[in-house]
Amino acid sequence: MSPNSLDFDHVELLIGSVESAEEANAKAVKSTVLTPRFYTTDFAALDRLDMSPVRAQWDAMMKEYEGDNNHDHFQRDSTFADEVRQLMPQLSPELRQEFLDFLISSLTSEFSGCILYNEIRKNISNPDIKQLMTYMARDESRHAGFINQSLKDFNLGIDLGSLKKTKHYTFFKPKYIYYATYLSEKIGYARYITIFRQLERHPDKRFHPIFRWFERWCNDEFRHGESFALMMRANPHLLRGHNLLWIRFFILAVYATMYVRDHTRPLMHEAMGLHSTDYDYEVFRITSQIARQVFPVEVDIDHPVFRKCMTRLVEIAVADAKAKKRGGLMGALQHGWCVTQAVATFARLYFVPVKRNPLPAEMRVQPTW
Ligand SMILES: [Fe+2]
Ligand SMILES: [Fe+2]
Repeated sequence: MSPNSLDFDHVELLIGSVESAEEANAKAVKSTVLTPRFYTTDFAALDRLDMSPVRAQWDAMMKEYEGDNNHDHFQRDSTFADEVRQLMPQLSPELRQEFLDFLISSLTSEFSGCILYNEIRKNISNPDIKQLMTYMARDESRHAGFINQSLKDFNLGIDLGSLKKTKHYTFFKPKYIYYATYLSEKIGYARYITIFRQLERHPDKRFHPIFRWFERWCNDEFRHGESFALMMRANPHLLRGHNLLWIRFFILAVYATMYVRDHTRPLMHEAMGLHSTDYDYEVFRITSQIARQVFPVEVDIDHPVFRKCMTRLVEIAVADAKAKKRGGLMGALQHGWCVTQAVATFARLYFVPVKRNPLPAEMRVQPTW
């Protein structure tokens, strides 16, 4: 098996299949190492954040949110339904499953942001952070709702109220929230813009109209990332000392999770004229460039050990899915072995030398990709 071109038996083993609304909802509720999670945190610590060291940049950013240039963006245009009717029957059952998996996991991660930002907003009184969370929850709620409309076309709509109540919440310390959320917002931007640019060049490969929305959509994600960048730059202790070890950990954890998950969508990438591995390295490259605004360390995505370990993690994920399917004592032993292998591979990844970047005086970056 080449991990860069999983065949559909392996893909199915990893993503399962969704045929009914019950299965779609069950998939969204499930929390695994690879699926998006819901988070909660120490709200009092967020309440104490002081944004005064970056006041001018902060106020300018709040004006952008207030201007709300995407207020009318997340509505379908007149041709959306026609495109869905014309294009969806052309998808093979395998591609359809990968696309549904993409929609469900994208919706879950948009909604995860919506819930986290809303909970922070409700539990703090710090006016700067409260206002920011209000804007970001607004955006994520639009994003989640827009994806859900596309799932409803397949009669696979997710019950967001019930998802909010039944999905497990993971507690993250505030600083882990800053690192992980900053990265997932910027990765979200890099993912959406890479797809949008590819389909802009090859409109014949746009197999669903939702991709037409990605350009303005990803600018929301970009701005969310900018907000976390300012929060960290205003509190520079988060960006030095032993915290650099945490930053390194989160960059690798977020990159590795995305890499394995994306390799379960070979047909979807192929349909867009992309290759999962090349797509992911482009997303890593863009994210790493942007993250120089805030992270003094950068992982070396071109290091041969980095590349080898990423490939290895996909192989381990496949072996683990096989072990789980097998079940019984042998399955449990094989699963244990896979976990050990994954930890060892991640440790190897962690010790690939990092690049160091001095933080730039200009804190903001423009979305020019
Ligand atoms: Fe979003
Ligand atoms: Fe976002």
